[in-house]
Amino acid sequence: MSDTFDGLWAGLAPLGRHRSTGGYRRFSWSAADAEVRAWFAAAAADRGLDVETDRNGNLWAWWGAPGPDAVVTGSHLDSVPDGGAFDGPLGVAGALAAVDELRRRGLRPARPLAVTVFVEEEGARFGVPCLGSRLLTGAITPERARGLTDADGLSWAKAMAAAGLDPDRIGADPERAGRIGVFVELHIEQGRALVHRGVPLGVASAVWPHGRWRLDFSGQADHAGTTRLADRNDPMLPFAETVLAAREAAEAHDAVATIGKVHVAPNGTNAIPSRVRAWLDARAPEDVVLRALVDQVNEAARRSSVRHGVALASYQESLTPIVKFRPGLRDRLAALIGAEGAPAPVLPTGAGHDAGTLAAAVPTAMLFVRNPTGVSHAPDEFAEPADCHAGVAALADVLAELAGAETERGAR
Ligand code: HGY
Ligand code: MN
Ligand code: MN
Repeated sequence: MSDTFDGLWAGLAPLGRHRSTGGYRRFSWSAADAEVRAWFAAAAADRGLDVETDRNGNLWAWWGAPGPDAVVTGSHLDSVPDGGAFDGPLGVAGALAAVDELRRRGLRPARPLAVTVFVEEEGARFGVPCLGSRLLTGAITPERARGLTDADGLSWAKAMAAAGLDPDRIGADPERAGRIGVFVELHIEQGRALVHRGVPLGVASAVWPHGRWRLDFSGQADHAGTTRLADRNDPMLPFAETVLAAREAAEAHDAVATIGKVHVAPNGTNAIPSRVRAWLDARAPEDVVLRALVDQVNEAARRSSVRHGVALASYQESLTPIVKFRPGLRDRLAALIGAEGAPAPVLPTGAGHDAGTLAAAVPTAMLFVRNPTGVSHAPDEFAEPADCHAGVAALADVLAELAGAETERGAR
């Protein structure tokens, strides 16, 4: 099984990787995205899986006729800017390798089985994470999705159309979502819990509530050299104070908050900005804690803006309530993939996933693969090949169990 995973990985790893940073820039509907989608379609076809693109641009590769009560597994291929190699692709290449592993064991599923690739999971280009699975389940309106724009102002609709899909068809797909009997996502752990436990695999218990807010600080553009300090309405000042306030609020609530993306207009060395646009990413163990944290940050931004004579507009771009995976399925998989008689550890994650979005509609679960450094959303993200292979073998065990796989000759 390791050679099929390694072979898949060797084909995928170079695609969309930036020469100088070594990070990935696989943004939805970009040339790099087209490359990885083509890689997936070819790898699936090589395995005799029937590949289809749904109305929202998600890819489905079927083993057997698409049908009800399907066992579905997969993840995403898009990345954050200069993201790592494993976040998403491990779950896609791992799923294809798990199909190989089932066949190597002489097993075939007794239920329809599909490998999926969800589009725009990171929301790196169009701003809303898990957009493909939100559209599939009706968690976002097609109107809002069509209107989402990238940094150049290009809409989701236009970018999707340029990739050959019809944006007028996007939206909830209850017939397709209704086919999913269970969804399992294999994913690199984006933390160090498994390292601390000294085990290669874990199972997700919950996804923390998390959201994204856009803060627009609008001031008065002016000359950096001739404008007296007393005469300034500099939006950079409330922005800077808000960055520090976000950190303070996160510490106060035992949560996390990040401002990692900012646009300054006009972005000139010798000009006081007219506007600073910043994005807050905040996450907390409970919904009520997240609310309190974000309220605290917004209040700090408001006060600072008033003090500096700057106008503030704050927009909630996405909010994902806490997801608690079904305990029965969670514990069944933890027992199945555990080692030396002990179940695999069950752990929460602060990272959002399509499995979290789908959980509102169907039974879902996540398997985590050990991340030696815990680093993610960065070029240094890494998982040992042996742990990836363990993840594939575990996923094959899970798929065999959930799909009632039988030997080609009869029952297992
Ligand atoms: O940002 C996240 O939580 C995930 O990696 N999409
Ligand atoms: Mn990610
Ligand atoms: Mn991911």
